[in-house]
Amino acid sequence: MPIVSALLLSALVLTTSTLGVDGRLTLDTMSSSLKRMEYAVRGQVVIAADKIQADLTAHAPGSEDFDFEKILYTNIGNPQSVGQKELTWPRQVLSLVDLPNEVGVDHPDVLKMYPKDAVKRAKEIKLGLGSGSGAYSHSKGAKIFRDDVAAFIKKRDDGVASDPEDIYLTNGASAGIENVLKALIADPSCGMMIPIPQYPIYSALLDLHNGQKVPYYLDEDRCWEINIRELERSLTAAQEAGVNVVGLVLINPGNPTGQVLSKEGVQDVVRFCAANDLVLMSDEVYQENVYDDTPFYSAKRAAYDCGLLEDDRLQLVSFHSASKGVFGECGRRGGYMELVGFDQTVKDHLYKLASSGLCSSISGQIMISLMARGPEKGDESYESHELEKSLIFESLKRRSKIVEAGLNAVEGMSCQPAQGAMYCFPSVQVPDRAIEAAAKLGLPPDTFYALSLLERTGVCVVPASGFGQRKGRFGFRTTFLPQEEDLSNAVSAIRRHHEEFSLKYK
Ligand SMILES: Cc1ncc(COP(=O)(O)O)c(C=O)c1O
Repeated sequence: MPIVSALLLSALVLTTSTLGVDGRLTLDTMSSSLKRMEYAVRGQVVIAADKIQADLTAHAPGSEDFDFEKILYTNIGNPQSVGQKELTWPRQVLSLVDLPNEVGVDHPDVLKMYPKDAVKRAKEIKLGLGSGSGAYSHSKGAKIFRDDVAAFIKKRDDGVASDPEDIYLTNGASAGIENVLKALIADPSCGMMIPIPQYPIYSALLDLHNGQKVPYYLDEDRCWEINIRELERSLTAAQEAGVNVVGLVLINPGNPTGQVLSKEGVQDVVRFCAANDLVLMSDEVYQENVYDDTPFYSAKRAAYDCGLLEDDRLQLVSFHSASKGVFGECGRRGGYMELVGFDQTVKDHLYKLASSGLCSSISGQIMISLMARGPEKGDESYESHELEKSLIFESLKRRSKIVEAGLNAVEGMSCQPAQGAMYCFPSVQVPDRAIEAAAKLGLPPDTFYALSLLERTGVCVVPASGFGQRKGRFGFRTTFLPQEEDLSNAVSAIRRHHEEFSLKYK
């Protein structure tokens, strides 16, 4: 059975089987905001991909009809799931912190297995944690780690001060984002300006917490830059419609769009937020993933340069993560947020919210601290750690070019430069007959396209509609995370499929 029909059938079975059992939670009685919430990165196409992968692994009847042996997942920015090697030194420190002293840091042969500086750092962490890695820490995260993060931010921003008391270590950036949105959405009239296209955690969480999405469009023709006039248009339109706009989300470097914003662009945004009393949520999880000449420029640095840190003229919360960069430690769930310019009473309530979650994952906290402060020059691990990081970085940079150039060479596709992050976001010409065929199945055209790509090639991408886009534009997001050979094969497969698809629906 073609994938699209199977999907529709399974959706029907799911719907009828969850309805109508007395006294149980049903589709009718469960949270309508949860039902409304969508999250494309792990949506319909990925569910279909998982099913095909399971059939291929089990050699299920029909699986021999596929022209590929495994699914190539390019749907999610999860580097280690597609072959990125772990960095050695952070894992050494982490393992020593986790091991009981007698078989770890205090073992007589420990220096035969671990570099001296890893042992020293693990001892330092154990001392700082006090109760070891199996106990809850302070709800904002252990103070020693917050000190590392504050020092990292200060160095990054050329000396702009950072206070460890305003830093919260979180379960990935995601948990920090959700907590801030919970605080911001006071009632259903509240709205947040979000970029279109956007990383769908924002639209999903706004749906979940009954906030309104106020879209502002990025300028595809100008490499997905932010346009101040578009910000003004979006804010005015929302206010005229009665929305109480409380904040703005900035994603820099961009996901799914891969742009790195210019200094002027970031300054425009901080000024705009300060002038309109909008809380700026600056998502900077890809700050280390910058491959072109435009350097990363943080929103905090921009606020400082524009004089907006004085008298708390801007309310800013910035996010970072150990999941991206070259660490790629997504599963550790390490992230942080820094609050700048907020009232103490608001901070107290955010602290209460963090306390209700007890603390974030300790291995995530450790990873964040190791990312913020690596081995020092002269330490035994320094050279090898730097080398491992640069090998990953250089390979990511090469891969970004392979995908960007490969997609731009396909007639009917156009892809802006992947200046940063981990994604390419091409627009794709979808023939009218394919649009009609998709409509008959009740699918957005690019979901139909992505399912066809999956079925024919095993390459799993996310339809662009999952991130939002201008009406009439179609496309998809692909990561450039698979290893170089797999990626080149994927680009060839995408081209073959596009030619075949265009011919079929001409
Ligand atoms: C823009 C952006 N923000 C936040 C996140 C969440 O990252 P994590 O929760 O793993 O730190 C992601 C993950 O892909 C992302 O792309």
